[in-house]
Amino acid sequence: MPELYQELINLAESDMYPLHMPGHKRNELSTPMKGAFRCDITEIDGYDNLHDESGIILEAEERANKLYGADKTFFLVNGSTSGVLSAVSAAVSKNGTILAARGSHKSFYHAAYLRNLNVKYLPYKQIEGLNIPDCVSADDIEQNIEDDVEAVFITSPTYEGICSDIKKIAEICHKRGIPLIVDAAHGAHFGFGEKLIKKSDYSKVSSIDIQDNKSIESSAIDAVNKLYKEPSIIEYVSVPENAVSQGADIVIHSVHKTLPSMTQTALIHISGNLIDRARLKRFLRIYQSSSPSYVLMSSIDLCIKEMEENGNSYIEKLLKYRNRIQRETSDCKVLKVIGKNVIDDPSKVIVSVQDSTMTGEQLYDILREEYGLQLEMAGENTVLAIITGWDKEEGISRFINALTEIDKGLSVVENTQVSPKISFLPPKKMNICDAWDAESEYVPFIDAESRIAAEFVNLYPPGIPIIVPGEVYTKEIIDNVKSYINQGLNVQGIEKKEGFLCVRQK
Ligand SMILES: Cc1ncc(COP(=O)(O)O)c(C=O)c1O
Repeated sequence: MPELYQELINLAESDMYPLHMPGHKRNELSTPMKGAFRCDITEIDGYDNLHDESGIILEAEERANKLYGADKTFFLVNGSTSGVLSAVSAAVSKNGTILAARGSHKSFYHAAYLRNLNVKYLPYKQIEGLNIPDCVSADDIEQNIEDDVEAVFITSPTYEGICSDIKKIAEICHKRGIPLIVDAAHGAHFGFGEKLIKKSDYSKVSSIDIQDNKSIESSAIDAVNKLYKEPSIIEYVSVPENAVSQGADIVIHSVHKTLPSMTQTALIHISGNLIDRARLKRFLRIYQSSSPSYVLMSSIDLCIKEMEENGNSYIEKLLKYRNRIQRETSDCKVLKVIGKNVIDDPSKVIVSVQDSTMTGEQLYDILREEYGLQLEMAGENTVLAIITGWDKEEGISRFINALTEIDKGLSVVENTQVSPKISFLPPKKMNICDAWDAESEYVPFIDAESRIAAEFVNLYPPGIPIIVPGEVYTKEIIDNVKSYINQGLNVQGIEKKEGFLCVRQK
C-alpha cells in the first residue's frame, strides 16, 4: 500500500477529531462524492474547459455567482493562492504600487515578487494580550492611500476571524477610482443563514425591552442572554456579511476552508468595472493547472448546491455549536474562549492561555495527545480551533470537556511575561523582487543588525512575515525571532536556527 494513501487511511480510521480545515470535517455525510476516482478526469470532449469555459463549467460558475451575487465568478482549483496571485497581478501594473495589510497571506507577497511590485503597508496592529493581528480600519486606508497606489489589498476575515469595514473601505477606494481586493479565503460561509435569534431563541423570550438607544437586534440579544442567566456571554446570532455584497471589486473565497468542499477548491468573484476581466482571466490561466481536476470542480458545484439548499441550517448549526462552546466554558478560571466582542466569525474558536504559565503550543499538544483533538494552530498564548456546520456534536462535546478538564488543573497566575512586540514595518532598502533574486549569504543573529533580508522570515501558522526580502534587520526584530525560537514556535526562514539569509555584501 503506498505510504501516503495508507497514512490517510490511518488518520480516517483513527479517533483523532478534526478541529481544523477543511470544512467537510472528514464527515462522509457532507458529500455524495464517495469513490472520487470513478469521476476523476480532466478536460475531455463534451466536458468544457476551465480556462475557456462555455458549457457545464460556465453553468456551474453561474450557479455559484448567483449564490454570492457578484457580476462574475470563476472556479479555482489551485486554492485561494491562485486567486490572490491572479487578482493582484490583474489589478496592478508591472512595477506598480499596491497598498496592503502587512498580515497578508504569502500568496500576496509572491504576487508582489512575480510582478516586481512596490508594496506600501498599512500599519500592523495586534489585539492586545492575545498577540493576534487586528483588522485594518477605514481610517488606516484613508491615512495611507497615496496617489501612486493602484489597488488596495486586505484580508477580511483575518485567519483568526476579525473583520474589517469593507463597505467603508470600498467607498474610499472607489472615490479614487481604484479597486479593493479582499482576501476572504476564510469567509466563504459569510452572508448565509438567517439570524439565529429570530428562528429559535427569539421565540423563547417572552418580552423584549427595546431601549431608546438600542437596536431591536441588540435588545433581543440582551433578552436571550437574560434567558440563559449569563449576561456576560454575548451570543453569536449570525455570521458576518459577505465581502461581495459589501462592494469589494474582487473577493477570493476558499470554499474548502469553511464549507464542505475538497481541499484546494476556491472561488474568485469580480464586481464593477475597475477590473479588466480578460486580463484577470489571462492570469488565472497562468497560475492554475492546465489539467484542472473535475473532482475538485464538481466538489465546488456540490458545495454550492448544498449551501443553496441547506445553507441556513449549516449556519444555524455552526452558531449553535459556537454558543455552546462559549457558554459551557464560561466557568473556566484560566482558559478563556475569546468571544464575540473580539472575534467576528463564529467558526474561529480562539482559546487564550494568557493567565497561566502554559504556552499555546503546550495546550495544543495536550489537546492533541491526551484528547485526540487536532486543532488548526497554536500561537504564542492562544490556540485556534475551526468549527463548521459539519462538525459533530460528539467532537464539540469532546472539545468542551477537554477545555474544562484542563482548566481544572491550572491556576491563575499574573502574566508578568511581556510579549515581545514586533515593529512590523522595518526600514526598507530594496524591493521584494530585487532582494529575493540577489546573491545571498548566511549571517549569524549576532551580526545581522542593519543587514538586508534576502528571505522571508515567517511565524507559522498563519505565516505573517516578520521580515520581507529587501527590509533591514533591526535589533528588535532579531531579539523577537530568538524569543519565538526559544518558545518553540515555528519560525520559518531561519538558517540553522541561528542566522538569517541576507543580501551578500560587496
Ligand atoms: C488569509 C489567507 N489567504 C489565502 C490563503 C491561501 O488559501 P488556499 O490554501 O486556498 O490556497 C490562506 C491559506 O491559509 C489564507 O489563510
